[in-house]
Amino acid sequence: MCGVVGYVGAGQAAPVLIDGLQRLEYRGYDSAGIAVVDNGRISSSKEVGRLVNLEQVLERNPVRGCCGIGHTRWATHGAPSQANSHPHFSSDGAVSVVHNGIIENYAELRDELLAQGHTFLSQTDTEVIPHLIEQFLRDGAESPEVAFRCALQKLRGAYALGVLFQTEPDTVYCARSGSPLIIGLGKDENFIASDVPAIINRISEAIYLNDGEMAALRADRVEVSTIDGQPVSPDIKPITFEAEAAEHSGFETFMLKEIHEQPRILRALLEKHVSSEGQVLLPDGLSSDYFRKLNRIMIVSCGTAYHAGMYGKLLMENLTGIAVETDLASEFRYRDPKIDPGTLVIAVSQSGETADTLASIRMAKDWGCRIFSICNVEGSSVVRESDAVFLTECGPEIGVASTKAYTAQQMAFALLTLSIASARGNLSPAELKVYLDDLRDVPDAVHYVIRQKELIQKIGEKHHDGPSSLYLGRRFNYPTALEGALKNKEISYQHAEGYAAGEMKHGPIALINESLPVVCICTQTADEVYEKMLSNIKEVEARNGRIIAVASEGDSELAKLSDDVIYVPAVRDEFSPMVNVAALQLLAYYAARARGTDIDKPRNLAKSVTVE
Ligand code: F6R
Repeated sequence: MCGVVGYVGAGQAAPVLIDGLQRLEYRGYDSAGIAVVDNGRISSSKEVGRLVNLEQVLERNPVRGCCGIGHTRWATHGAPSQANSHPHFSSDGAVSVVHNGIIENYAELRDELLAQGHTFLSQTDTEVIPHLIEQFLRDGAESPEVAFRCALQKLRGAYALGVLFQTEPDTVYCARSGSPLIIGLGKDENFIASDVPAIINRISEAIYLNDGEMAALRADRVEVSTIDGQPVSPDIKPITFEAEAAEHSGFETFMLKEIHEQPRILRALLEKHVSSEGQVLLPDGLSSDYFRKLNRIMIVSCGTAYHAGMYGKLLMENLTGIAVETDLASEFRYRDPKIDPGTLVIAVSQSGETADTLASIRMAKDWGCRIFSICNVEGSSVVRESDAVFLTECGPEIGVASTKAYTAQQMAFALLTLSIASARGNLSPAELKVYLDDLRDVPDAVHYVIRQKELIQKIGEKHHDGPSSLYLGRRFNYPTALEGALKNKEISYQHAEGYAAGEMKHGPIALINESLPVVCICTQTADEVYEKMLSNIKEVEARNGRIIAVASEGDSELAKLSDDVIYVPAVRDEFSPMVNVAALQLLAYYAARARGTDIDKPRNLAKSVTVE
């Protein structure tokens, strides 16, 4: 949600900034801008809409200089407009700022600054920052750095900032509180970025700035300090994934590439987390002893990660004997869930920066709970604030609609559940072996589904044109129905509703007519819910709904009832959601393609929701 980038080195800054912004565009695409300092002057360029608009302007009117900052915006305060685009400037144009986050006390700061004679050109919260810095300089701050530090001390809210000063043409300043920011270290050049993929092709080491820290970057050095002026000797971390991971690699979109990556990711997670003796290896910070005593688990997350949490709940309560609840982080943080230090709180997040999930973690920590997180981004806030972490290690997920992170989160829950269940004696070693053998079927089954993409494409194209669609599932595949519907509405903009199939008669059945596609997930053949699902499908058939079934191979019953069937390999019921969702991801993908939407960057959305 908004991306910031910065560069200082011997090369021209503008191309580096644009390249970084291209890689960050999934964080917001309402407008983009850059500022570059050269010869005692800051030049800037900003344009509303996609980055390509800015690129075209820069081709005609290039900005030159070896030190600069850039921004891609997802609008919060103020509509997408030229005036509201970043960078923002001080009144004299000598200070330029890019910002990701929200300044909560901007209204009062703005009033103070207005009274001091500053004029504002935008409706954004960000614009107070360059003016505040300017005011500290006017009041006699001994250096730009001191003025920046003083300004930071007055800000409330969340920020990742990049700042340029006309008087210091060789320095990019940055600071972080609550919004992600990394410093990339190069040879005689240094970078800032909201995340590693923005600059992955240029660095092999990075500093993950902590909340409350700021830094001054010059071509040959980086100085980190706390915002109250204490020097910090930062942890320098190697970058663990290849630049290729942030490229399309021949696929037409990142989303399609990421769907295809799932079998490999699932296999790798199994290999990493299951020992040769058949034990599930736990992340550091959690012990079998702890699991034996545990009596309550609370899972918090948002969006797709919430659906993974729902799946985790079903699995864990089925196999571990522990009471498990799940909640949307945005609800959890405002209710009184009566949890105590004996509750393990599990946070699920691809980005590790989702504001509501982070706030929930912090609340649970205040109540004395231990925090276990399932997260994809090493060094992210969620990871840093957790007692133990399962890293899903999918590599960067760039398509705004989450795919590979979701199935990896499901796999994390499957492994965690099996390890808790065996630690508590709910599964004997022999039973654990059977479960693990069944779990090992999943990556190949997902691969099989992906190989059917041409058939799924035809089905997606056939049903894409209606205004709405319904997704039905039961038990382990109820979250799959929700996730399939979410994928569809996110990328194809077709209204889609996910429902527990048993709830259909309590309302949504009224929607069914001959033009409504109803996607029915009906693969749990070993389970009593199969019969129930069949009855629900017959109810849809009786009302002439267009049935698209996701069925286990060899199921001839469903073909008789359905307009179209996507056959998936039969795997153990508990693990079928990982397989089934791959079919729904592709179905949504091809429906969206037929509708001509921008699949990787759906309208109004942005990845990594760092604001409430
Ligand atoms: C949907 C999607 C979102 C995210 C949600 C949480 O495709 O990607 O619903 O799942 O914003 O984000 P993370 O997992 O980064 O906390």
